[in-house]
Formats: sequence, C-alpha cells, structure tokens
Amino acid sequence: MKTIICNWKMNPGSVEEVDKIIDIIAGNTNSVGRAELIILPPSIYISHLQEQQSQLFASLGVQDISSQASGAYTGQLSAEMIYNLGLQYALIGHSETHKYQQYTSQDISQKLNQALMHNLIPILCVGYEENPNSDEVNTDSIKRELYDIITPNKELLSGKHIIVAYEPIWAIGTGKIPSLESIETMSIFIKRMILDILTPESQTTVAVVYGGSVNKDNIQELSSIPSVSGFLIGGASLDREQIPILLG
Ligand code: PGA
Repeated sequence: MKTIICNWKMNPGSVEEVDKIIDIIAGNTNSVGRAELIILPPSIYISHLQEQQSQLFASLGVQDISSQASGAYTGQLSAEMIYNLGLQYALIGHSETHKYQQYTSQDISQKLNQALMHNLIPILCVGYEENPNSDEVNTDSIKRELYDIITPNKELLSGKHIIVAYEPIWAIGTGKIPSLESIETMSIFIKRMILDILTPESQTTVAVVYGGSVNKDNIQELSSIPSVSGFLIGGASLDREQIPILLG
C-alpha cells in the first residue's frame, strides 16, 4: 500500500474550504484503505481536523517544527507540543522552508533531533541542493545533505522509522518530474546511504517517498516504481477533482 502525504502548505484560506476537502477525502477513504494517508495541514487547522479524524482515516502531522526544545522562540512549534497534541508526523527541511527561512543543514539536523526525541516520525525532505535550473539528478548533493543531517542523529535513529522525501527542487510546483529510472536510482541510493551511515544493529527502517509535481495524470506511472513507498503531494492534494484519483 502506498503512502500519500498531503502537504497543504499555506492553504486553504478558511475552515469552510477545509471542510470541503475533508468531505472529498472522507468519500474516498475507508478503514481498509487503498492508500495510507497522512495530512500536513497548516497548524491552525489541526484541532479541527482532529475532530473529523475518524471519518478521514488519516494520520496528521505538521509542516515544520522548531530546532529548539522550548523557550523564547516566537511563532515556532516544538516537537513536544506536537506529540502531546497526538500528532505522529513532522515534515522537516522542505525546500520552501530552506528558501524562506534560510535554514542550514545544522538547523535541519537539530529539527530531526527534536522530532526523534519526542517520538514523531520524521518526513525528511532532500533534494533542495539540486540545481534549480537543471533537471539532472545529482547523487553528490543528496549525499552531502544526508550525511550532514543523519550523522549527528545516528544514535537517536536506532530502532526508529524515518520517511525520506526525495524532492528535486526543480520538480516542485513546476509540472516537471524526473524519469522513472532516476527516481528509482535515487530512492535506492538514499536508502542505502542512510543505512550505511547507521550501524547495522541500529534496526532503523527507512521509507522513501517521491515529491514534486505529482498529480492525477502521473501518479499511476509513478506508482510502478518499486523502491518508492509513496508520494508527498502539494498542489494536487488540494484539488477536489484530483483527490479521488490520488487516493485511488
Ligand atoms: P507540488 O509540491 O506537488 O505542488 O509540486 C510538492 C511539495 O512541495 O512537497
């Protein structure tokens, strides 16, 4: 079963709009689930979605967490708060947060540390260092990103599950996707690289999902890639016509 992660970003603009999306999702999921669904809404809608969770058959998470445990960090949300609210997932290092908040690899590594310390399942995005103007896949930049972020969290990852979202920056919101072969190569590379950094005894489980311009027209062919466990979907996950096909 594929995992569908819906990244709503800074959308939609009202609770009424959220309810319209919930109605469509609820009409297309059930307890036996064709896909495992994770929704990452703007945090302000979390409690509203939690009230509807039983009809959604979805898990919930946040789009970012603080690299700090607590304290004077205006506007930020801690991993502890998210966990205590009953959420399971935290998206970490999305390229839009790199772009607009200028996060460094050290910040991302500390966010991963906070997520793991508080039992959130991290959804770690990689691919933001790829050349935004070239659709070539680049194992060197992914290697650097993973090394800097995973290495300091080696011990904490022991026995945990991590989802890595391979999102080449040039594919996000552009309508362009890499070839199926290169997504397959990169997802195998990412999994192997993480398991190489960790010790064999760590028993960490790694799932790789693909993100960047996934939509109703390409999800079927993308689903044929064996090493990809699912998709991180932005724009299309808010489109009421596309949701039934994405969940199909
Ligand atoms: P997109 O966004 O599906 O709109 O390209 C993906 C993402 O940013 O996670």
